[in-house]
Amino acid sequence: MYDNNPTLVGIKKEIDEAKQGQVFYDEKALANVEKPSNGKHFYIESYGCQMNFSDSEIVASILSEVGYRPTRAMEEADLILVNTCSIREKAEETVRQRLRIFDKMKRQRPGTMVGVLGCMAERLKAKFLEEEKLVDMVIGPDAYRDLPNLVAGAEEGERGVNVLLSREETYADISPMRLDSNGVSAFISIMRGCNNMCSFCVVPFTRGRERSRDCFSIVSEAQDLYERGYREVTLLGQNVDSYRWENPETQEVVNFANLLEMVALVHPDMRVRFSTSHPKDITDEVLHTIARYENICKYIHLPVQSGNSVVLERMNRTYDREWYMERVQAIYRIIPECAISSDIIAGFCGELEHEHKETVSMVEWANYSMSYMFFYSERPGTLAARKYPDDVPMEVKKRRLQEIVDKQNEVSLRHNKADIGKTFKVLIEGDSKKSDRQFKGRNSQNKMIVFPKVNGLKPGDYAWVKVTGATSATLMGEVSFP
Ligand code: SAH
Ligand code: SF4
Ligand code: F3S
Repeated sequence: MYDNNPTLVGIKKEIDEAKQGQVFYDEKALANVEKPSNGKHFYIESYGCQMNFSDSEIVASILSEVGYRPTRAMEEADLILVNTCSIREKAEETVRQRLRIFDKMKRQRPGTMVGVLGCMAERLKAKFLEEEKLVDMVIGPDAYRDLPNLVAGAEEGERGVNVLLSREETYADISPMRLDSNGVSAFISIMRGCNNMCSFCVVPFTRGRERSRDCFSIVSEAQDLYERGYREVTLLGQNVDSYRWENPETQEVVNFANLLEMVALVHPDMRVRFSTSHPKDITDEVLHTIARYENICKYIHLPVQSGNSVVLERMNRTYDREWYMERVQAIYRIIPECAISSDIIAGFCGELEHEHKETVSMVEWANYSMSYMFFYSERPGTLAARKYPDDVPMEVKKRRLQEIVDKQNEVSLRHNKADIGKTFKVLIEGDSKKSDRQFKGRNSQNKMIVFPKVNGLKPGDYAWVKVTGATSATLMGEVSFP
């Protein structure tokens, strides 16, 4: 269809370039859907964090239950959805560019509906319909159950908005339709929203109050995944350490350490990961639980944001450099083989040169295996936007970011080189990017290892792999025995 239509050829090129947002469907995705097809298709792209990708799987499930089927071909879709992110200005720009493409598609195929989901929908609300003339629906993260109504309205030509936030919604009863799946690892949302008020962050405004999901629905989702051949789950929340669910019948309280243990007990061959931990809330009880279970991965994403206490205070992170360092020491003491990664913001409001240097030195000191690094991007409505001028010039932000990136690359390379000669248990995820003669998989520390295939091994199997080489991003190895 693309080849004989010049406009669509152009669109296809742009689609190919937007790989980040592309979602592909696994054959098994439709296995659990009861409702017969209504002959219509939806296409969904997701941006932003893992929570958003996980939410898209809930949306896919809700739409399938009213007869819509997923398609990976946008030009076939009756309904185009984009699950959006507002975390930095760049994230919003990317979405607006995608909307331009959807507009073109809509002009080519009148009747195609376009819906905006997620954090940008929540942030901009009805303004979206004014700004983006061809958008039919705007739906916030807590309103996905209303999607069938809004779609029915759009089919009749009505434009609709539902951006109500909820204090209870966890979509606990909805079985997500796994999208873009390798059939080996899956995300499970364990909570929604965030009660912290980090001054730079838009998430509390776009995702609402924090609430935890019923632990039994989490465990049964993990069990179901195990039975369907999955071997790894990642428990998701903005601040998993504040997970707290009270059983309404027994009043018993389940905290994050308890939940980790319950999920670890699903099966010893089912790996458990989680993200994100907050330095102020991660407890020794959680660390001891990780240490106790072989299948809870020895990897903690513990975003520092800044290595300087004064900046951390302005960020309203509610810990200081010393507190953070104590938590890192506790991790390495209780779980010696643990890898730690981080998120870092360069050039936050008022950041001075010596404060920045403390961030660089933290990368070295904490020995992060990797980090996600950003320069500060002011978000309208946040505490920082109201209280502090965004006064670090762009070229300074970029230079500082580069210094942090360079330091992290150096530390990552050292971290990875230290693994040469060691043998790790690797969960095989599939073929490596470069060759179908190689597998890729991760060790417990979340490092990607690439190794030549060996007869009899397949994705979802565990292999013992001896590391023979390393770059700052990947380990290379060969199948061995412990
Ligand atoms: N809940 C997680 C973070 C979610 S947002 C936590 O507390 O760690 C993911 C990352 O985006 C943050 O850790 C932060 O490093 C970055 N980020 C958030 N707001 C930002 C902003 N305004 N500018 C630049 N980076 C930002
Ligand atoms: Fe944002 Fe802070 Fe909440 Fe993370 S903990 S989502 S950075 S407010
Ligand atoms: Fe972005 Fe929303 Fe996640 S702002 S990072 S998609 S919670």
